[in-house]
Amino acid sequence: MTFESKIRPIQWVNGVSRMLDQTVIPYEYKYIDVTTGQQMFDAIKTMIVRGAPAIGIAGAHGVVLYAQELEKQNLPFEEFKKQLIEKADYMATSRPTAVNLMWACKQQRDIIEKSNSDIKTLIKELTKKAIEIELDDIERCKKIGDNGAEVVPKGATILTHCNAGALATGGYGTALGVVRSAYDKDNTVQVFADETRPRQQGARLTTFELAMDGIPVTLITDGMCSYFMSKGMIDMVCVGADRIAANGDTANKIGTYTVAISAKYHNIPFYIAAPLSTIDTNIKSGKEIPIEERSHEEVTHINGKIICSDKVKVINPGFDVTPNELIAGIITEVGILRAPYEESIKKAFETHQKLLLQ
Ligand code: MRU
Repeated sequence: MTFESKIRPIQWVNGVSRMLDQTVIPYEYKYIDVTTGQQMFDAIKTMIVRGAPAIGIAGAHGVVLYAQELEKQNLPFEEFKKQLIEKADYMATSRPTAVNLMWACKQQRDIIEKSNSDIKTLIKELTKKAIEIELDDIERCKKIGDNGAEVVPKGATILTHCNAGALATGGYGTALGVVRSAYDKDNTVQVFADETRPRQQGARLTTFELAMDGIPVTLITDGMCSYFMSKGMIDMVCVGADRIAANGDTANKIGTYTVAISAKYHNIPFYIAAPLSTIDTNIKSGKEIPIEERSHEEVTHINGKIICSDKVKVINPGFDVTPNELIAGIITEVGILRAPYEESIKKAFETHQKLLLQ
């Protein structure tokens, strides 16, 4: 892999978390400094930072920010630890579906619980772990990209949904990491990006970052995918994940399930690309994955303007669950996992326990 993305959506810089404001792309490309734990909680909730691995990194940074604030209160060490654990647990609730957030906050929580040194040393350890999670994610995504590139046919058109790119991770992408690595080997590869209503991550973010890296991308609306599949214009689908159950059922951005059904009907391989930290082995199936319900305004309004009757009822789940039987493979940093997923996931965890930073 030699293809580097220019995008770093979130970085720990001089005691603050510097992040790209993803709510204003593509109109503006601006960084903001998040300096307090509560600001981080709000940045995750309002999707200034978004995408499963990126909010994991944000959660880890957020715990350090809380630690820095608590330090100023001159609390006894045990009281400091108790309050910081409460803050880490609170940070983990800023969004409910992507398990990377809970995973990263738990990494920090474990460090706090085990610490028997002093406040300064503990903050240093938490900062080290936050930076490690951030940098490690980029390396994992590169491995995901390289593993996935192996199954991309020559000259393929890859359909993707939402944004599972550099913007959603430490800076290379999962599904778009596969695209980057494949494009590096074969520059005739191209992408079709679903718009991804209601928040348009596909239109606003995926097209933006691929165009920035010079990778050919065509924007389509969500309802068009079956049409292009029926015309033989899509060779594979590759999307990210917010949480994968032990049986391979996968939660990803709302609309993913529809794409997977259509891909199955048209005999097109449908791949998930995600790091092991997105797999939640504590839950048996997708039925147990909590689905975020978001503000109704995301559906009723576009750019602040209402697009429907103000009396209409609205439901706005942020994610759906694709059943494992629709998934051709789960592309991870340790290889491509295949059905039966209970077995391949279990084996991946047993073999790569060390890689999970636990
Ligand atoms: O609501 P979002 O924008 O955070 O949802 C993001 C997705 O659904 C991504 O596909 C997923 O997090 C994978 S990101 C590598």
